[in-house]
Parts: sequence; structure tokens; C-alpha cells
Amino acid sequence: MKVLVTGGAGYVGSHCARALCDAGHEVVVYDDLRAGHRAAVDARATLVEADLADSATLNATFASGGFEGVMHFAASLDVAESVRLPLAYYENNVVNTIRLLRTMEQHGVRRLVFSSTCATYGVPESVPITEGMLQDPINPYGHTKLAIEWALRDSATAWDLGACALRYFNAAGAAADGTMGEDHDPEPHLIPIVLQVAMGRRDKVFMFGVDYPTRDGTCVRDYIHVEDLASAHLLALESQKPGVFRRFNVGTGRGTSVKDLIDAARSVTGHAIPAEPAPRRPGDPPELYADPSEIASGLGWKPKYTDIREVVETAWEWHRSHPQGYGEG
Ligand code: UFG
Repeated sequence: MKVLVTGGAGYVGSHCARALCDAGHEVVVYDDLRAGHRAAVDARATLVEADLADSATLNATFASGGFEGVMHFAASLDVAESVRLPLAYYENNVVNTIRLLRTMEQHGVRRLVFSSTCATYGVPESVPITEGMLQDPINPYGHTKLAIEWALRDSATAWDLGACALRYFNAAGAAADGTMGEDHDPEPHLIPIVLQVAMGRRDKVFMFGVDYPTRDGTCVRDYIHVEDLASAHLLALESQKPGVFRRFNVGTGRGTSVKDLIDAARSVTGHAIPAEPAPRRPGDPPELYADPSEIASGLGWKPKYTDIREVVETAWEWHRSHPQGYGEG
């Protein structure tokens, strides 16, 4: 199938684009490279370097013909930034997705997999989180992703779009062959930060909150390997039917605390990794982990990486071999 991958030069998008190529699909990556990396684009894929706001290029890309599906990753994703710049988030995430959907409708493309997030649940009433729980985001980033889910659901009814929203928990790790991984600037995420400490690029990691009502006082998250995310996207795309909206949590079902994570990184890297308690980070829910049973039964998906040490090992391999990320090629 010919597939457009928006944001296909970014962290999750690039791993999914590669998985699509591996499965024999024809891939066109659509990315403006503001946050994405040219070097992350698979050599078998074609790159269209453009913004989704550029309607002429978007239209011309679909007009080149043959597209059967879209994987949509392009989005702004920094929670703290979204609080400061909500309109920029609505513009880039919601408005640009509407542009994409209109163009898909025009060109008769009716299969979409959307990169959604557990942030759409806000602070969940209980864990593990199931898909039927209340979605009540606590920041603009989460609001924009939820608004897009609504647009997809309504489009499924109105013009036969077949759409699957995958609500990821914490995307983590790197390609098993060490050639692709996470490279954000600035880097807000725990695993890369902890590994930068192990590499001596930072003195210590701050643990944002050690007084949460969790088993060791630090926040609990569900770290899902990026290649497991890629396999979920592939299954979702290949099984998608027109006119049907589906949504699945994508997580392991296992909660890992900030302290657990740092301990795993110490054991993988052999470095001490000094860690210091720090105040809570605003907007952090204490505990988020998935109940992944719906995606197991609905798509037959199961994560390969269920041990946090193995996830950290792949990330460590990537960061060690690419200390400047894609900057070093
Ligand atoms: N953390 C630290 N120190 C750091 C960085 C992070 O203690 O230097 C903690 C955070 O407070 C949090 C945990 O590590 O408790 C994980 O933080 P990340 O920033 O790695 O990930 P988040 O859980 O904040 O973010 C993820 C996704 C977002 C999504 C959010 C939903 O990256 O896109 O989950 O809550 F919105």
C-alpha cells in the first residue's frame, strides 16, 4: 500500500516509516524537518519537506496519486510549551489535522492511523487505564489530541473515514540495530536525560517529586518501546476499515517509577547516575499505566519489550553511539 507518513522524520514517525518499508509498503514521508531529522528518514522512503499548513504542497502530494493510507504523527508535543502557547498548539495540531483530513477526503483516501496519547485521560480515576475511561486532559497538548480524536470519530460517520487513534503511553527506547533513536532539542524526557548523566553530559538527574502517593514516592509511567509502537501502527493500518473509528491504548501494562527507571539505567550502564529530589513538575499525573487488553484482542498486538532494562539497553546503545543524536550522522 502507498502510505503518507506525516512527521515521519520524528522519533516515533521514523520508526514507523521504517517498519512500513520493511513490510513492503511504499512510503512518502511528509515532514518540515523543524523537529524531525533528515537522517532519520529511511533511504527507501521519499521525503516531501513541507509543513501541513502548506495546502498547495499537501494537495500536490496527494494528487501524485495512489495513496491508500496515512499515518499522522506531525504535531507539537511539549506539554509545558503547550501551556504557554496554546494557540500555536491548536493551530499546528488541530487546524493542520483538519487540513490533512480535508485533503484526504478530496482525494478519496480513507485509512488513517493517528498518534494520540494517554495525556487525553488527564489524571485518570484509577489505573490501569482502560479506553472507556473519562478523557479529561489537564493541558492544551492533551486537549488538542482529544479534539482530533473527535474530528476523526465524526469523519468516520460523515464521510466514511476509517481511523484508528493509538493512545501511547511513554514512547521509549531505540531501534534494536542502534541506527535510530530519540533526539529532541531541548530534551524533556526522563530516559534520555538519565542516559546523558551516565555519559557525563549532565551532573545529575532531578527527580521531579518524591512525595507522590506511589510505592516509592516518585511518578509511575508505562514505557513502551518505539518498535512495539511501530508494530501497533502497522497492524492498525492494515486492518482498518472505511467508516470505522477505533481507539486503543498502547502500553505494556507495567508501571515503572522514576526511581525504578534510574536503577535500571544504573544497572544497564554501570554508571552511578547521581539523582536528587526536586519539586514536582506542574501537570504530572502521579501514576499512568495502560490496560492493553483491548489492543491485544482487537489487533492481536503484544509488546516484545516487557522488561524496562531491555528498553533502556536499546536507548543506551543509541545514545552512546550517537552522543549528538542525528547531528553526528
Ligand atoms: N522526570 C524527572 N526528571 C526529569 C525528567 C522527567 O523526574 O528530568 C519525570 C517526570 O516528572 C515524569 C517522568 O519522569 O514523572 C516521565 O517524564 P517524561 O517527561 O519522560 O514523560 P511524561 O510522562 O511527562 O510525558 C509523556 C509524553 C507526553 C505525554 C505525557 C502524558 O512524552 O507526550 O506522557 O502525561 F503528554
